[in-house]
Amino acid sequence: MSQAKVGIIGGSGLYKMEALQNIEEIEVDTPFGSPSDRIILGTLEGMRVAFLARHGRTHHLLPTELPYRANIYALKSLGVEYIISASAVGSLKENVKPLDMVVPDQFIDRTRSRISTFFGNGIVAHITFGDPICSQLAKVLTDAISALNLPDVTLHSSGTYVCMEGPAFSTKAESNLYRSWGGTIIGMTNLPEAKLAREAEIAYATLALVTDYDCWHPDHDSVTVEMVVGNLQRNAFNAQKVIQETVKRLSENLPESEAHSALKFAILTPLN
Ligand code: ADE
Repeated sequence: MSQAKVGIIGGSGLYKMEALQNIEEIEVDTPFGSPSDRIILGTLEGMRVAFLARHGRTHHLLPTELPYRANIYALKSLGVEYIISASAVGSLKENVKPLDMVVPDQFIDRTRSRISTFFGNGIVAHITFGDPICSQLAKVLTDAISALNLPDVTLHSSGTYVCMEGPAFSTKAESNLYRSWGGTIIGMTNLPEAKLAREAEIAYATLALVTDYDCWHPDHDSVTVEMVVGNLQRNAFNAQKVIQETVKRLSENLPESEAHSALKFAILTPLN
């Protein structure tokens, strides 16, 4: 039986959802080991949701160390069909400012050490990934952000997320290269999640919360840790409002998603 249709992955700064009620904390085991942390099941706007702190609630896992497959597998095993993935990002564009929100529609992969597929070991499948974000879920998310009218927050309802390996941030040459490629924002986690979610036939959308201008920006050197931490805290507060409003809208209408039939023509190996 499905325990939660909506999954929420909380990134840097977002380690819990204050508004969850009737909380149950569960340990989920998967063929890929344990997820980043125990999963919190709770009720939000009348819906059961599953919350997972991506880096663990004590933030002890590097982007490279994250158990991406275990995380997505665990959410799938709870019945999750929609994932809202909140993530801190740097900005690659002047008009995308700290505290802004971006709902990207594209990714560029600059990761090197991640396993981003459930397939292999005798089963070959190639999912369609031209549009890596579920546009229907992204629309619910952007509508929710617009409706909230949050102070100091501009919404960018499309954009390209460059996913780098980390943990060190980019060099200026890399940052400028990504700008020349048309990158909008940069982060370290969302692309493997989006690929695995698609393979698991889960609709996935990113809520990217801008903490900083990346190092290409002339003001970057004057950015202090205090400023970044302040932005993380405000972003975490805003993200919770957005997620609650999004879940409210999902509770009224769960959208159709092409992601839910992603494997229909993807598996090449005969399964019988
Ligand atoms: N996450 C937050 N800011 C970032 C940046 N500038 N580069 C990569 N990941 C980030």
